[in-house]
Amino acid sequence: MCGIVGYIGNRDATPILIEGLKRLEYRGYDSAGVAILKNGNLNLKKQKGRVAELSRKALNNGMSGSLGISHTRWATHGGVTEENAHPHVSQDGKIAMAHNGVIENYVSIKKFLESKGYSFYSETDSEVFVNLIAYHYEKEDEDSPTRFFDSVRKCLRHIEGTYGIAVMCTECPNELVGARKGSPLIVGIGDEEFLIASDVSALISRTSNVVYLNDGELVSLKNGKLNLRTTDEEDLEPEIQKVDWEIQDSELGDYEHYMLKEIFEQPTALENAMRGRFTDDSSTAKFGGLNVSAQELRQVDRILFCACGTAWHACLVAEYLVERYARIPVEVEYASEFRYRNAPLDKHTLVIVISQSGETIDTLAALRESKRKGYKTLAINNSVGSTIARESDGGIYQHAGPEIGVASTKAFTSQLHIISMLALYLGRLRDMSYQDGVEYVEALKKAPELVADALKLNDQIEEMAAKYKDMQDCLFLGRQDMFPIALEGALKLKEISYIHAEGYPAAEMKHGPIALIGNECPAIVLATQPDIHTKLLSNIQEVKARGASVISVVNQSNPMPEGLVDDQIVIPDCHRSILPTLASIPMQLLSYHIAKMRGCDVDKPRNLAKSVTVE
Ligand code: F6R
Repeated sequence: MCGIVGYIGNRDATPILIEGLKRLEYRGYDSAGVAILKNGNLNLKKQKGRVAELSRKALNNGMSGSLGISHTRWATHGGVTEENAHPHVSQDGKIAMAHNGVIENYVSIKKFLESKGYSFYSETDSEVFVNLIAYHYEKEDEDSPTRFFDSVRKCLRHIEGTYGIAVMCTECPNELVGARKGSPLIVGIGDEEFLIASDVSALISRTSNVVYLNDGELVSLKNGKLNLRTTDEEDLEPEIQKVDWEIQDSELGDYEHYMLKEIFEQPTALENAMRGRFTDDSSTAKFGGLNVSAQELRQVDRILFCACGTAWHACLVAEYLVERYARIPVEVEYASEFRYRNAPLDKHTLVIVISQSGETIDTLAALRESKRKGYKTLAINNSVGSTIARESDGGIYQHAGPEIGVASTKAFTSQLHIISMLALYLGRLRDMSYQDGVEYVEALKKAPELVADALKLNDQIEEMAAKYKDMQDCLFLGRQDMFPIALEGALKLKEISYIHAEGYPAAEMKHGPIALIGNECPAIVLATQPDIHTKLLSNIQEVKARGASVISVVNQSNPMPEGLVDDQIVIPDCHRSILPTLASIPMQLLSYHIAKMRGCDVDKPRNLAKSVTVE
């Protein structure tokens, strides 16, 4: 939530910042702003709405200078107005700051500053924050070469809450300061230039050498030098890491939307999830970074999966797959619930968190809470170097490449694939036979090809979308491992097309939601499992008897009887371990086409942001 970019170097900062903001726009798009410092003068432009509008305003006004900060906002404190847009500037006009996060004690700080004569133009916690820096700046020794940096550091000691910040001072035209606690911040080391950003995508066009800041760290970028310290004044040696993806990975290419591009990237994402992860005899999976021995894993008698949103749906699939193939009991928790629930866990519980971004605040908090209690933690994560990746005891990187569309698609199926591999690995450590392992691996390896086949349904689903695009409500039904896919189908549809949709276990429908059913509310029934096909058939009859249209998703060997359903989507036959992945494809395509036909902003749905770094 919210994206920040800062630049210091010898080039014109404005186009670099605007380009960076465009790449971070998925983190928030309520308003945007840029501040440039030149010859001690601060030039500030803010704009309600998208970065494209800010870009026109900033670039046409000839804003230039080689030090600047910028921000794209997802509103937390205060409405979507130009006043509330960042960067914020202190009352004395000396300090400018772009902030991502939430300051919890801003009310008391505001009162304190008001008592010192400060007044405020916006409703934001960030304006309070920047004024507290200004307050400390005035108290520092004027002649100190580290006056600005020290004032930020001292201010941070009084701040409760989360922040990733980029700050500059009109009296220090050669210095850019960044700091983080709870919100991500990365420094890019370029050719005689530094950048600061919330996410590598904003830096990658200029450098692949980065330093990930940890909580409680501050950085001063000044005269070509990078100084890293903690808020407790400990000097640190920066650890420079190489980012392993290219700028083209995050470009739209010939696609109309990132969401469609990412849907079509799924075969490759699954290949990447598997690369180098099977044993030579292809009878099980192997993972380099688990940091948990086979002996330790054999001791595990329960796994707790924790995540938010779509990643939580992946956890629900994990419950079915891990229990079926590894026979280990699984619990699934919303990270936001788990973190405050103080749930009693058995001492042999393994905690696995799933997060595409690796920065979701609730998932991170659940991870920290589990670690604090002494549990082993693993993360399934798509962002190398993210906070969750760094703080978990071990984990599995998805290698799905950057996911820019706000609605998760390829990251979800890549999570499902890794879960499938993990279920195999855990199963083979227990009772799964060598032969079953070999068959399982063969099935996993076929997944990219089968997903590519399922993607050929695109034209058929586009036609179907035209028929259903005006519906007001929609029910997604599935049983067992298709229940999470029903939930995910409903989430995809509602988040990008704003159609009310609910996912339900098919049989549970009779205990309430059947009241919604009628010709205004079609049902999408995931009827892909041969063992419960007849049960789903009955559920479909119940829906049809009440006058609703039914779209069934079936596999090749088990179609619905002629004339029973209104529309049918046939996915390829496959091993049960990859069925949730295959069944997700038509759900994604249907939502995409419906949203597009309704004129919705597919990649940037209203009120949403991709990386939820506030509670
Ligand atoms: C929905 C979606 C979200 C995320 C959720 C968790 O399409 O993308 O529900 O799944 O915000 O995000 P991560 O996986 O980054 O922790």
